[in-house]
Amino acid sequence: MKKLIVSMLVVTLVGLGAFSVVAQDKGPEVIKLPAKMGEVTFPHSMHQDKIGVDCAVCHHQGAGTKCTSCHGQNTVVDGKTAPKFMKAAHKNCRGCHEELAKAGKPAGPTKKNCKGCHSGPKKKK
Ligand code: HEC
Ligand code: HEC
Ligand code: HEC
Ligand code: HEC
Repeated sequence: MKKLIVSMLVVTLVGLGAFSVVAQDKGPEVIKLPAKMGEVTFPHSMHQDKIGVDCAVCHHQGAGTKCTSCHGQNTVVDGKTAPKFMKAAHKNCRGCHEELAKAGKPAGPTKKNCKGCHSGPKKKK
């Protein structure tokens, strides 16, 4: 009996170990970002997997934190204030798409195609 309990414990611990390796929270597959310009439907997991963008390119303060927990809240990190989310989002999202488009590579919507991102209903003021 004691041997059985010990071996069950070993199985449980090995199981937990394996779990912690694969259990990174990758967040929602698709994220809706409401905007007066029109809601942005952001294909999150497509950017992670198919496009292969590193988490840290966007989550520059660590994965799993909402951008809007700092952007739009005047949060200060290392003496620098987080700009409004619109500014950060346009720089991050549109910025990457524009660089790729300039290089003639497949890219997402750019400045020329606001509706490519702002495709949803307008948020009421
Ligand atoms: C690559 C995607 C993308 C493109 C292209 C884009 N935007 Fe945005 N925009 C965003 C995201 C993401 C936000 C942040 C949404 C939020 O705050 O929830 C945003 C926010 C905004 C906001 C402020 C939030 C609001 O309530 O409206 C305005 C205004 C805006 N965009 C205008 C534009 C205009 C004008 C263009 C075209 C010249 C454009 N955007 C193109 C992604 C994009
Ligand atoms: C192209 C940019 C981009 C990439 C790459 C990216 N994310 Fe995100 N992620 C976002 C945005 C934007 C949000 C929505 C944040 C918000 O609502 O303020 C988000 C939200 C999340 C959330 C939910 C946060 C919450 O509290 O609601 C998690 C978890 C997350 N991402 C994890 C990851 C992980 C892990 C990776 C890498 C495997 C990753 N993300 C790659 C942009 C990105
Ligand atoms: C813990 C707070 C925090 C979180 C969470 C955060 N940011 Fe930031 N971010 C900042 C601060 C502070 C700055 C200003 C830093 C600087 O100027 O060097 C900044 C700057 C930026 C910039 C550069 C803006 C510019 O005009 O140069 C971009 C782009 C950006 N963030 C995107 C994002 C995105 C996208 C997310 C979510 C996936 C996110 N940030 C989450 C605090 C945060
Ligand atoms: C580091 C580069 C990079 C960043 C950062 C990035 N994207 Fe993209 N995005 C791409 C590429 C590349 C594609 C095009 C993939 C294709 O067509 O094969 C794309 C495609 C898209 C599309 C079109 C999806 C479709 O089904 O056609 C949308 C919408 C989009 N991105 C929104 C965003 C938003 C919103 C953000 C910021 C939260 C963002 N992207 C950040 C590289 C990026």
